[in-house]
Amino acid sequence: MARTQSGPGTNRRAFLRNVGLTSGAGTMFATMGALGLAPTAQAAQREQPFRALGASDFTLTGRGAAKVVVIGGGIAGLTTAYELGKAGYDCTVLEARDRTGGRNFTVRGGDTTTDLYGNTQTARFAAGHYMNAGPARIPQWMVTLDYCRELGVPIEAFTNVNADAYIYNESAGMTKPMRYRTAKADVYGYVSELLAKATDKGALDKELTASDQEQLVEFLQDWGELGDKLTYEGGERRGYSAVPAAAGTPGVMLGDIPAASEVFASGVGRYFSFEFGFDQAMLMFQPVGGMDQIPKALTRAIGARRVRTGAAVSKITDTGSGVLVTYTQGGRTKVVDADYCVAALPPNILAKVPHNLGSDVQGALKAITPSSAAKIGLEYRSRWWELDHRIYGGITETDQDVTHIWHPSYGFHGERGVVIGYYNYDDDAESYAKLSLKGREERAVAAGVKIFGEKYRTELASSFSHHWRQTPHFEAAWHDTPGGPDDVRYKPLNEPTGRVYFAGDWLSYTDAWQHGAFTSARKAVTAVHARVLAS
Ligand code: ALA
Repeated sequence: MARTQSGPGTNRRAFLRNVGLTSGAGTMFATMGALGLAPTAQAAQREQPFRALGASDFTLTGRGAAKVVVIGGGIAGLTTAYELGKAGYDCTVLEARDRTGGRNFTVRGGDTTTDLYGNTQTARFAAGHYMNAGPARIPQWMVTLDYCRELGVPIEAFTNVNADAYIYNESAGMTKPMRYRTAKADVYGYVSELLAKATDKGALDKELTASDQEQLVEFLQDWGELGDKLTYEGGERRGYSAVPAAAGTPGVMLGDIPAASEVFASGVGRYFSFEFGFDQAMLMFQPVGGMDQIPKALTRAIGARRVRTGAAVSKITDTGSGVLVTYTQGGRTKVVDADYCVAALPPNILAKVPHNLGSDVQGALKAITPSSAAKIGLEYRSRWWELDHRIYGGITETDQDVTHIWHPSYGFHGERGVVIGYYNYDDDAESYAKLSLKGREERAVAAGVKIFGEKYRTELASSFSHHWRQTPHFEAAWHDTPGGPDDVRYKPLNEPTGRVYFAGDWLSYTDAWQHGAFTSARKAVTAVHARVLAS
C-alpha cells in the first residue's frame, strides 16, 4: 500500500486527476499561455479585473438595487452577498447548517457533529486549540489573502514543508522515520553525483556544449554537495546526531550514509516535488485562531439579519420574472421571492434539489462528481513533537493509510497541541469513515506510534474526526469536474440559466481552494450586476 503524498490522490498525477482535472486543466492552460497558445491567468485577470461594486453604481443611474437570494453560506455564497451588499443589493443567504462557512469549518471544544452513519461527536479540545477540518493553508498568490486583509482577519505563517519533519515509508522497508533534510541531502546528492558523472563521461555531449556541461557540473557539485571526485559522501545537510555547540563541541554528523540504490529504493524522493507546486509552495498562511475567522468576518460584514441558518432549500423555481426559493427552517416551510438567485451550494447537493432549470443544468450538475477526504485532530497534553523531536510545524509524510500527519503551526511552546493525525483521501478516507469514532482514533494512533513512539498514544487527550463525504449537506470534500470548468457541458452553470447563477470552487480552476470559491462568486456578482444595470 505504498502511498506518496503531494496532495489528494496517490501521487501528483492522481492529485490532478482527483482534485482534479480542473487543476490539471489549469496547469495545462497556464503552460499553453507560457507558450503563447492561450491567455495566461494573469493576462485573463488583466483583461477582466474584478471591480468591487459600489452604491454609486445605482445612485448614478437612477436604478434600484435588486433582491438576490443566495443559496449556501459557504465562501462562495457569503462572498456573493458581501460583494453585492457593497452596492446595496437586498441579499438573503440561506444556509442549511447552523453556521456559515461551508467546508471552511474550524472545530473547537464544544462543537458537535453527526455524520451520515449516525456518529455524533463533540470536540473536547482545550480552549484556544482547534483543527481546521476543511481548508487549512493559503498560498500567497490567492485572493483569499486579499479578503483577509480587507476583512481585518489577521494571518500567520502556515508551515507546509519542514526540513525537520519526518518521512516514513514502511513499504520500502523503513523501520524508523527519516528527517526530510536527511532524505533530501541523500536524494539530491546521489542524483547530482550520477548526472555529474554521466556528464563527465560524455553522456550529454550531444545535448550540451562543453561550457554548458562545465556549468551544469558546477551546479550539481553545489546542489548535491559533491566532493572533488564528483561523489556524494554525505555532509552536514543530512543533520547531526549531536548538534554543534560551544568550543569543544563540534557536533557529530549523522553517519550510516546509505548507498544510492538504498536511497532510491526508499522512495523518499517522491515527496519532494510537492513544495514546487504553484498552490503548495511556501510561504503559506493561515488566519490566526482558525480558518473560520474568514466566514465569521464575512457574515458580520453582510449582516447577520441577512443570513438564515438552519434553512435547507427544498425547491428552486424560476418564474421568468424572478426566482422563488422554498426552504424549511425550524420545521416551517418558507419562500424567498427574489429577482435573482445565486446557487452556491455543492453541485452534488444542488442536484438533489427539485428545480425547473432544465435537464442541461441537471446533466451538468450530475457530471461533477464528489471526492472523499478526511482529517482527525489528535489533541495532546504535551507538545512532544517539539520537545522530543524538535519539529515546529510542517508535515510528516507517510505511506500509511493516514497519509499526512500535520504538526500544528500555532501555539508553539504551549502546553498542549492538536496534531492532524490523518489527512487522507479516497479509499483511505472511506475506510476510516466506516470505523467507529474510537476505531478511527485507534487506527490513526497505531500508525503514528510506528513513527513517533509510544507518546503518540500515551500523551493523547482527545480526538475529533471529520469525513466530508459522510457529512450532511456536503457529501464531498471537493469535486471532480471532468474536462475542467470551461468544458462545454458546464455552460449552463457558467452562464445564468434564466435568473439563476451558479458559484463555487467547483466552477473554478482552483477546485478545493477557497480562492476558487471567491473568484467564482466574483464572476457571478459581476454578471448579475451587469444584467441589473442593463435592465
Ligand atoms: N486545497 C487542499 C489542500 O491544500 C486540497 O490540501
